[in-house]
Amino acid sequence: MTLMTEKIMKALRFREYGSLDNVRMLACELRRPGPHEVRVRIEFAGANPLDLKLLSGQMATIFPLDFAYTVGTDISGVVEATGELVQRFKCGDRVFGRLDARVGGAFAEYAIAPEHGLCPIPEAVDFKSAAALPTAAGTAWLALFDIGCLRVKQKILIHAASGGVGSFAVQLAKLAGAYVIATASLENHELIKNLGADEVIDYKKDDFTQHVTDVDLVLDPIGGETQERSWSVIKPDGVLVSLIDRVIGNRGDIRGKIRGAFAPLANNSATLHGIALLVASGQLKVVVDRVYRFEQAGSALEHVASGHSVGKVLVHVAG
Ligand SMILES: NC(=O)c1ccc[n+]([C@@H]2O[C@H](COP(=O)([O-])OP(=O)(O)OC[C@H]3O[C@@H](n4cnc5c(N)ncnc54)[C@H](OP(=O)(O)O)[C@@H]3O)[C@@H](O)[C@H]2O)c1
Repeated sequence: MTLMTEKIMKALRFREYGSLDNVRMLACELRRPGPHEVRVRIEFAGANPLDLKLLSGQMATIFPLDFAYTVGTDISGVVEATGELVQRFKCGDRVFGRLDARVGGAFAEYAIAPEHGLCPIPEAVDFKSAAALPTAAGTAWLALFDIGCLRVKQKILIHAASGGVGSFAVQLAKLAGAYVIATASLENHELIKNLGADEVIDYKKDDFTQHVTDVDLVLDPIGGETQERSWSVIKPDGVLVSLIDRVIGNRGDIRGKIRGAFAPLANNSATLHGIALLVASGQLKVVVDRVYRFEQAGSALEHVASGHSVGKVLVHVAG
């Protein structure tokens, strides 16, 4: 089947690695979906630090991009066209998911996605909440359960609990029956406690290594010195799950071995569907910092680049 151009749409794109100055709203062609693909009319897109790392070129060896590249991986929207072999979706279905980071495509009026990468949005979940989930909540789940093997009654330290990943991780860890210690700025302590954290440490004022001991798991979305200091608070046979350090190794002393593990970017639509059901049942809250109009999509990226967003930053594409 030939992948013919069908429409012209607007998309936030860049033609070379660099800074946010390289990003432009451009008109571009939209092709028909291939046999196993669907075309989604995007309602909301989620912004992530990954979008900025891809733009800067710092991930070019892992995710080499084809230019022009359309920003963004996280989408929610409505199926508008389906390839002839698609079985799970039909036109009009509400879907969400994570696009391949090498291809991007979320900050656009339409996206083409493989059928297997998308999930249905449960009736009780709105498009805004769904677009907040794929990278942040999907990574929190992967890090806590698939890699960290978190179990009931274990003790976990979650750094950057006010961020996109952290705000979901706190809630998922509590749902799993863990004791949750979180780090965040003082102004976000009430929020993090309301999400279920048992203790919150002001990372700007207090040294967490003086307050935390013998945790089973550390979730570290920060890296560097935070990662280095985290080893000392983990009990033997515990685990440090990093979202940053791809070559993290194990650490050991006479007390035993501590496992170090990197959580890679992953797209598991079954996991995402389970997460969406938790949102639908009211067990998982979606913390949204700010929603930008599509014309202001570049400002959404600037907001994430500040490093101080609380929960998720979203773009209302169809608004
Ligand atoms: N490997 C993977 O699969 C994967 C997946 C998702 C994310 N990540 C990475 O994980 C990191 C976090 O992602 P995210 O979406 O959660 O980011 P985010 O939403 O942009 O995180 C921002 C939050 O981090 C907090 N923060 C910054 N420095 C902190 C520190 N030293 N201690 C405690 N809190 C701190 C900020 O709080 P204040 O404003 O109070 O400073 C802010 O609320 C990013 O680098 C991202 O690329 C990796």
